[in-house]
Amino acid sequence: MTTVLVTGASGTIGSRLVHDLAAAGHDVRAAVRTAGRAAALGDLAALAVVADLDDPAAVDRAVAGCDQVVLIAANSERQVRQELTVIDAAERHGVAHLIKLSVGGPAPDAPLVLARDHYQAEQRLRAAGVPATVVRPGYVMQNLLQFAAWIEPDGTWRLPFGDGAMAMVDAVDVAAALAVLVESGPTTDQVWTGAESLTMSDAAGLLSEATGRTITYTDGDAEAFYQRYVADGHEPRYARDITVLYDQVVRAGWVAAVAPDLARVLGRAPRTFARFAAEHAAEFTAATPSRSR
Ligand SMILES: NC(=O)c1ccc[n+]([C@@H]2O[C@H](COP(=O)([O-])OP(=O)(O)OC[C@H]3O[C@@H](n4cnc5c(N)ncnc54)[C@H](OP(=O)(O)O)[C@@H]3O)[C@@H](O)[C@H]2O)c1
Repeated sequence: MTTVLVTGASGTIGSRLVHDLAAAGHDVRAAVRTAGRAAALGDLAALAVVADLDDPAAVDRAVAGCDQVVLIAANSERQVRQELTVIDAAERHGVAHLIKLSVGGPAPDAPLVLARDHYQAEQRLRAAGVPATVVRPGYVMQNLLQFAAWIEPDGTWRLPFGDGAMAMVDAVDVAAALAVLVESGPTTDQVWTGAESLTMSDAAGLLSEATGRTITYTDGDAEAFYQRYVADGHEPRYARDITVLYDQVVRAGWVAAVAPDLARVLGRAPRTFARFAAEHAAEFTAATPSRSR
């Protein structure tokens, strides 16, 4: 049995990972920002440890005694500082394996702030000498759930992806593969995509089949997207980054390539978008924008 700390445990990937690791019999510490967020772990809420990543003392306590750490941090202006706090604690406590969730294309001059931030954290991780595995997931299918309510009553789905294809990956697979890495130990950098490259028109077609509702993807204006995304409650810095991701990076086809690593780790083909669409059909059927706006 391995003692594993999972940060970001209330999030899209982290919450699934906690369940997978617990099912495999590991001793899991599910780090949540506040005690109230333990509820996101459902029946595994008892595994929660409160460790705000902005609180180095709390992070130190959470890391102490762990064999492995899975580092998942939210994109924000505090992300680099938070990740360095976890990496420093892992180094101090002699953690045997740190798995860092990163992104594709980290570089000091990357077009996305979040890719520059991940680059800084990766540099620190390499320097720390903690045995590590860096994981670069592609665009996670579950991201699209936040735009289900943007589908207009007539089925128009306006987003600024252009005709760019994405090798989208299911968060279920990312979590399952992270759990495999906990079993297998440190390895080379991983690029985890789905097995197919789809445009948003393709995705809308598959969602139409799953929901029985005609959903028609339409290329949208980047600035209008940014304004609406901020109005949805996202930090302007993050919203600008996501706008660049869609309108420039995806549109240019830079996230279209399918990589073989995920299938190798899982020992099976990645889950398809059609399966994601079937599993989330209700969310894409029920969510309609408020007509009072
Ligand atoms: N989504 C993608 O397509 C994608 C692709 C590649 C890489 N990534 C990377 O994956 C990471 C995000 O993973 P995700 O998609 O699972 O994100 P997510 O669902 O937004 O989860 C982020 C987690 O971080 C937690 N968090 C935020 N601030 C915190 C703090 N101060 N202290 C402790 N925990 C805090 C959140 O807690 P609360 O629940 O309390 O907010 C949440 O559990 C990012 O580094 C991103 O760059 C994402």
